[in-house]
Amino acid sequence: MRQIGIGLAGLGTVGAGVYKHVAQNRALLMERIGVELVVRRAVVRDPSKARVAGPSREQLSTRWQDLIDDPAIDIVVELMGGIDEPLALIRAAVTAGKVVVTGNKALLAEHGQEIFALAAEKRVPVFFEASTAGGIPIIKTIREALIANHIVSIHGIINGTSNYILTRMTDARLDFAEALAEAQAQGYAEADPTLDINGWDAAHKAVILASLAYGFWVGTDQIFVEGIDRLTATDIRFADELGYRVKLLAIIKADAAGPDGTAGSGGIEVRVHPTLIPKHHVLASVSGVFNAVRVCGDVVGETLFYGRGAGQDPTASAVISDLAEAAISLGGARGSYGFTPHGLYGNCRPLEDIRSRYYLRLAVDDKPGVLGQVASILGRHDVGISSVVQPETHDEAGRAQLVLMLDRASHRQMQSALEDILRLSAVMPPPALLRVESFTT
Ligand SMILES: NC(=O)c1ccc[n+]([C@@H]2O[C@H](COP(=O)([O-])OP(=O)(O)OC[C@H]3O[C@@H](n4cnc5c(N)ncnc54)[C@H](OP(=O)(O)O)[C@@H]3O)[C@@H](O)[C@H]2O)c1
Repeated sequence: MRQIGIGLAGLGTVGAGVYKHVAQNRALLMERIGVELVVRRAVVRDPSKARVAGPSREQLSTRWQDLIDDPAIDIVVELMGGIDEPLALIRAAVTAGKVVVTGNKALLAEHGQEIFALAAEKRVPVFFEASTAGGIPIIKTIREALIANHIVSIHGIINGTSNYILTRMTDARLDFAEALAEAQAQGYAEADPTLDINGWDAAHKAVILASLAYGFWVGTDQIFVEGIDRLTATDIRFADELGYRVKLLAIIKADAAGPDGTAGSGGIEVRVHPTLIPKHHVLASVSGVFNAVRVCGDVVGETLFYGRGAGQDPTASAVISDLAEAAISLGGARGSYGFTPHGLYGNCRPLEDIRSRYYLRLAVDDKPGVLGQVASILGRHDVGISSVVQPETHDEAGRAQLVLMLDRASHRQMQSALEDILRLSAVMPPPALLRVESFTT
């Protein structure tokens, strides 16, 4: 199978994750894209550092120029962070005809216009899924899946650190300093959390989303940015009593012509600031370090995306999706025909073996001992009971309702237990049996 050579600039949190998952999911990626992704070299500041994942010491270098000079490297992945060195690297890579993948939101927000002008001139793509909202595939969604749409608006909770702090200020009634200290202790905030709490990390991502949605690079001086650093616990509590959650929200909107014929300015607005959201709105329930992005398109209507906005594995997932696209852009890799068949998973498991939790409601005679009989049958079939509810009310026939929440059991176990239960004279069919999804896997 043809190999595509990758040069990793940066082997830190994200770079090491990319290395690890390209290796772990090698067979799956080969089946899906039809080429083998091979990391040939990585660039770091300190090659002597102990690393959890990465290529051999001989494949490490401290000069990003080595990635440009290596003819076996087709794709350069910039995961160093910072501005000047990554910008020089990307300029050199694109000029040398090497496809670029980057997760650098600050760089794109500041220099996106220049980078993409060069990419267009040299006809060399630059992919950037990991730059915004971590593992949520929002870049490809806006670029590809929503291609039919004028984007009406985007609302995003796109900074996990500030969302964690706000969640703790709301739920545990901490003040800002306490919540920040907790976020740092949990590893959710950098030692220097400035860009997270002053709103600029979210603002960089908002610039990228707005630019992608509206087709021009929005200047960082054209947007309104206010962080959460001056928010007080008192305001969060009052907002709460009024029925609102406070979120650091990125708001991107087009002032388009209205359906009633009113003329829009044709301009867009891009803002990031603490915002009260009604508690019943789905974005209000996005808690902790999670991100969510709501995109409204004129054709599709409202859509919502939710997931981890940072961290090694979710961000690596986004980078590797760009690697696949980069490989396809190089030719030779298999693009999608809509469905790519492969046999890596074998067959479906038989229904009888599938395990889940259950909700079981039985109509029973209102007399002592029935619960004991049902429980003993379930016990014989090795089905645990996690809780029992017996509402006071009776049905029209005067029967009592017995509601049992059952532990995980296979379909086979459950069916045979139920057959035995229905043989009890005190139980009237039909029973109600529903599966309960705990989202543990
Ligand atoms: N972390 C996340 O969750 C996340 C999420 C989305 C996007 N991003 C973006 O992804 C990028 C990387 O983030 P990260 O968290 O992985 O950073 P990181 O852990 O600090 O890793 C940076 C890596 O780049 C190397 N490096 C830095 N400057 C260098 C230079 N001048 N020359 C050679 N190597 C250099 C470092 O080498 P040493 O290992 O020797 O120090 C390290 O391996 C950033 O642009 C960040 O904004 C990160």
